[in-house]
Amino acid sequence: MPISSTPSIAAAPGSLLHIRDLTVRFGNAPRPAVDALSLQIAPGESLGLVGESGSGKSVTALAVLRLLSGASASIQGSIRYTAQQGTHEILTMPAEPLRRLRGREIAMIFQEPMTALNPVMPVGRQIGEALLAHQPGMPRRAVADAVHAAMETVALPDPVRRSRDYPHQFSGGQRQRILIAMAIINRPRLLIADEPTTALDVTVQAQILELLAKLREEYGLAMLFISHDLAVVSQVTERVAVMRHGLLLELAPVRTLFQNPTHPYTQALLRAIPTMKTPLDQPLAMVSADAGWREGVLEEQSPAHWVRSF
Ligand SMILES: Nc1ncnc2c1ncn2[C@@H]1O[C@H](COP(=O)(O)OP(=O)(O)OP(=O)(O)O)[C@@H](O)[C@H]1O
Ligand SMILES: [Mg+2]
Repeated sequence: MPISSTPSIAAAPGSLLHIRDLTVRFGNAPRPAVDALSLQIAPGESLGLVGESGSGKSVTALAVLRLLSGASASIQGSIRYTAQQGTHEILTMPAEPLRRLRGREIAMIFQEPMTALNPVMPVGRQIGEALLAHQPGMPRRAVADAVHAAMETVALPDPVRRSRDYPHQFSGGQRQRILIAMAIINRPRLLIADEPTTALDVTVQAQILELLAKLREEYGLAMLFISHDLAVVSQVTERVAVMRHGLLLELAPVRTLFQNPTHPYTQALLRAIPTMKTPLDQPLAMVSADAGWREGVLEEQSPAHWVRSF
């Protein structure tokens, strides 16, 4: 795996996660799935990643946890994570410290909770195993208490009794809460959430977004929140990165992005969000196929507002 070699491991001062020039290619694909992407997340910060299907959002998330090695991916660039004990280069760190980082420092939740859960194991045991993976030998009683506390934190009803139930005995929203309980039980500092609410109906989606906001506040949790839906992302993040075809097109604080969207692709995404004023019979704005295809350079057009030239 070629990565740009830098003699000393330095991350940008104050960053928790520092992705630099990340490029991911699959086989003979004509374009990289992720193209020289650079992003930083500060401790406790929530960064949104938006873009249409195939823009490279999930590949970015998987690269951060180094979960792409099974695929025929060639990965270049650097992904630095600053833990309490120092900075790690995720792309080259040895397997054992990487295992400790995953789940303990960086946790992930996915779109489809059912596929991430074991259908034949009671949910309490699954949440407990997430804890035991990082604290082997923890006494059973302490594990059970921690599981019940985590279930309570994510507002799953009647934790002691329900911990013995199986995934199919819960609703979709409750299953996502179970996954969130598994993700937070080790008190990670970074949560990667890849379309965590896309499979849920709107009311349940709002409840899950509220829960994530609460957890961020309580635990000082940083988050990389991925969605194709700019409206959803803007509810839970402070800054938003817009991606298309693997390229970062615009990066700005949420408010700036909504008030002064500059890249035509971002403007098209915003027009596609229905508002109270959108007539019901009007078709949603279409995002033109070539917006953002031409490769320009990223420039900081005002402080913290980056736009790729077009
Ligand atoms: N394992 C793989 N092997 C080959 N190509 C892949 C693999 N995983 C992803 N890709 C390709 O990389 C590109 C980016 O995919 P990615 O899954 O990151 O998109 P996404 O932005 O998450 O889209 P969605 O919103 O549909 O989840 C796509 O063109 C996809 O086909
Ligand atoms: Mg995806």
